[in-house]
Amino acid sequence: MIETMNKPATLIKPGQTIGILGGGQLGRMVILEGRKLGFHFITLDPAADCPGSQVADQHIAAPYDDPVAAQRLANAADMIVYEFENIDPTVVSALERQVHVPQGSRLLEITRHRLLEKQALTAAGIPVAPYVAVVTEADLHRGLTELGLPAVLKTTTGGYDGKGQWMLKTEQDVAALPKELFMQEQPLILEKFISFHKECSVVVARSIHGEVKAFPPSVNLHRHHILHMTVTPAPLAEGMSDKAVRLAERVAASLEVVGLVAVEMFALESGELLVNELAPRPHNSGHYTFDACLTSQFEQFVRAVIGLPLGPTELTSPSVMVNILGEHGEAFNQAYGTLPGNVKVHWYGKKEAKKGRKMGHVTVVDDLESAIAWIEASQIWPPLTEREKKVIYDK
Ligand SMILES: Nc1ncnc2c1ncn2[C@@H]1O[C@H](COP(=O)(O)OP(=O)(O)O)[C@@H](O)[C@H]1O
Ligand SMILES: [Mg+2]
Repeated sequence: MIETMNKPATLIKPGQTIGILGGGQLGRMVILEGRKLGFHFITLDPAADCPGSQVADQHIAAPYDDPVAAQRLANAADMIVYEFENIDPTVVSALERQVHVPQGSRLLEITRHRLLEKQALTAAGIPVAPYVAVVTEADLHRGLTELGLPAVLKTTTGGYDGKGQWMLKTEQDVAALPKELFMQEQPLILEKFISFHKECSVVVARSIHGEVKAFPPSVNLHRHHILHMTVTPAPLAEGMSDKAVRLAERVAASLEVVGLVAVEMFALESGELLVNELAPRPHNSGHYTFDACLTSQFEQFVRAVIGLPLGPTELTSPSVMVNILGEHGEAFNQAYGTLPGNVKVHWYGKKEAKKGRKMGHVTVVDDLESAIAWIEASQIWPPLTEREKKVIYDK
């Protein structure tokens, strides 16, 4: 009896309402999984017909910084979470004073700001690419002297899918940078270009009770800075997957993450791992968990924030996830009626297909060779290049 009484409590129970800041596909998939557990959902997003609102119980169509809308969300929800990080942390900290916001505004403040994120990681002893903060043009030149070319200049906030980044290979690239970039309110960050062997990622859950559980690492292919393909189990050299998991768990613990943190890493030929970027929420590279793990990242997120024991994260099958962008839509529609049953489709319900816009994804639940063979034969996506094949097949 005493044992039962000492069991950690959940913050909310089935029948209660979770509010979500953001109504994109990540929120949508959190809702689809959270409904299974018996929760109601209310979303706040500027778009009336967004992927999240289509499956939520209620929706507030308003900008994130609208105080009246934020108050309506606080009144309607028993708990609030965020599903993307380009939200003003002051909005979240105001909500925090009224409602449970288990992820907290501090995690958002750090992970939405590349410089604070790098500083927090460095302070925790986590290896990252060498970087310098840049406010003036003189800072940039000092930074380039220190780091050398090639380098990557990034805005500290607001960037995603490679937006807000300038690759600097030559002095000409440096000279061609727009002058308006400098002396802005937010500094820029200059990073040494890392000639990585592979990019990999690990999604880790940490619950309100401090329980930590990682999903199996995956190797990711990007095309034009947008995630194209995620391969799991990660084709990495012996011992590297374990190392990636331990590193990601250290990140989750040192930042006292609640919910999920996706840890994007560069794996070097030498076996070294550098953390590139964090996301305090479900991540595109964890979509495979929906169809190829015992627990999905979306269910795990809900478990972590309400305080349920975390679910088992073992793989149930190898898989390859591929994103369907606006430009793949037509070929995908043509193939739709003949997609085999092990090609699991997730469609986000976005009205307008634009180039580079994530419309949906498929997870091919199969061994690597067969999954890749189907993907190539489908002709929905341009074929893999030799370099991409090496990333997928070489360890
Ligand atoms: N310092 C770097 N060295 C080499 N490649 C980089 C570096 N920083 C970013 N990239 C490449 O650009 C991609 C996007 O950069 P990232 O920092 O993850 O921003 P975001 O995903 O928010 O657009 C990375 O996945 C990687 O392929
Ligand atoms: Mg990234």
